[in-house]
Amino acid sequence: MTAPLAAPPAGIRFDGVRVAYGDTVVLDGLDLTVEPGEFMALLGPSGSGKTTALRAVGGFVTPQRGRILIGGRDVTDLPPYKRGIGTVVQNYALFPHMKVADNVAFGLKAQKAPRAQIAPRVREALEMTGMAGYADRHPRELSGGQQQRVALARALAIRPGVLLLDEPLSALDATLRSDMMGELARLHRELPHVTILYVTHDQVEALTLADRIAVMDAARLQDCGTPQELYRRPRTEFTASFVGTANLLPVTVADDGVHLAGQRLTVPTGDAVPGATATLCVRPHLVGVGAVPAADGNTLRGTLTGIQWRGATHRLTAEVAGHRVLADVRELREPPALGDGIDLHFAPGDAVLVPARLGGGGTDV
Ligand SMILES: Nc1ncnc2c1ncn2[C@@H]1O[C@H](COP(=O)(O)OP(=O)(O)O)[C@@H](O)[C@H]1O
Ligand SMILES: [Mg+2]
Repeated sequence: MTAPLAAPPAGIRFDGVRVAYGDTVVLDGLDLTVEPGEFMALLGPSGSGKTTALRAVGGFVTPQRGRILIGGRDVTDLPPYKRGIGTVVQNYALFPHMKVADNVAFGLKAQKAPRAQIAPRVREALEMTGMAGYADRHPRELSGGQQQRVALARALAIRPGVLLLDEPLSALDATLRSDMMGELARLHRELPHVTILYVTHDQVEALTLADRIAVMDAARLQDCGTPQELYRRPRTEFTASFVGTANLLPVTVADDGVHLAGQRLTVPTGDAVPGATATLCVRPHLVGVGAVPAADGNTLRGTLTGIQWRGATHRLTAEVAGHRVLADVRELREPPALGDGIDLHFAPGDAVLVPARLGGGGTDV
């Protein structure tokens, strides 16, 4: 018999993990390390394999290939209850016939924790999630947000080394979701030894909560980095468009910059090969309106096709050489009219080149 894993500190490692259902590969050679105590978000669209990755860590899915390590130990063949993991899913999954306290005690009892330990651990977990006053209620007597806090308390009661959260906020309304994001951030601070893997399709949750984000698409890891890295220096077109909003323009790499529909733009080209096609990525808030303020700035000449007032900013939409370009601007002294010619500018250092998406997007098809 193997003892349950000691709680701290336990990182997670996916080592070439492959999961397929029949002929369909839903997780393709996933290599990813989550450091001990780290909050890692798995971000990607629906069907990209996030839940499968999480279930592989939990022991509810067996990889056909590769290994899962927790705290440096190969747990690939270990049953779920021996992995020292707490799990929270979207729909709370509380036992409706059990009171809150019994729900929270469930994992401890399953682990055969000493009887004397159970009540204090349940109390501790309920206090941690702000639910201490609700121990004797049934789940049906609680709001959705409160039920999700109980689910969180149930996961924390076993003092897990690893906490797995699968879209835990997606059933909540916007205000509650924002409150719960604050709570999760606090828990992450208060439990620095607990490694958190957090599945979401919501970029705001990932950007707000995570120390690092692993971006998934089509069964594959596309990118991984801190929120700032992914936002400022996305490595793929997919990351650029999925993490934040991006202007993506098909360009041809030149010796001294790039060409967009015959117009030369100064941008860092890194090791891109002259003559190759690439995608230029620049964020809407880094695009300004009017003449270029700096000598080395880039101008995009276009036609204004839309203005949207968003409170603090205006979002302008322009058509530049057949492509849509967004600019989020704070000050708009003389609002241009739709159909007017418009000059947009951006600084070379604010643009990033990413590989053109194979066979997809823009005029590259
Ligand atoms: N038990 C299963 N049997 C067959 N296909 C599945 C099963 N679970 C998930 N899938 C498929 O695997 C793919 C990835 O699913 P999932 O990991 O749930 O994605 P995500 O959580 O990113 O939405 C989807 O196409 C889904 O339909
Ligand atoms: Mg899912």
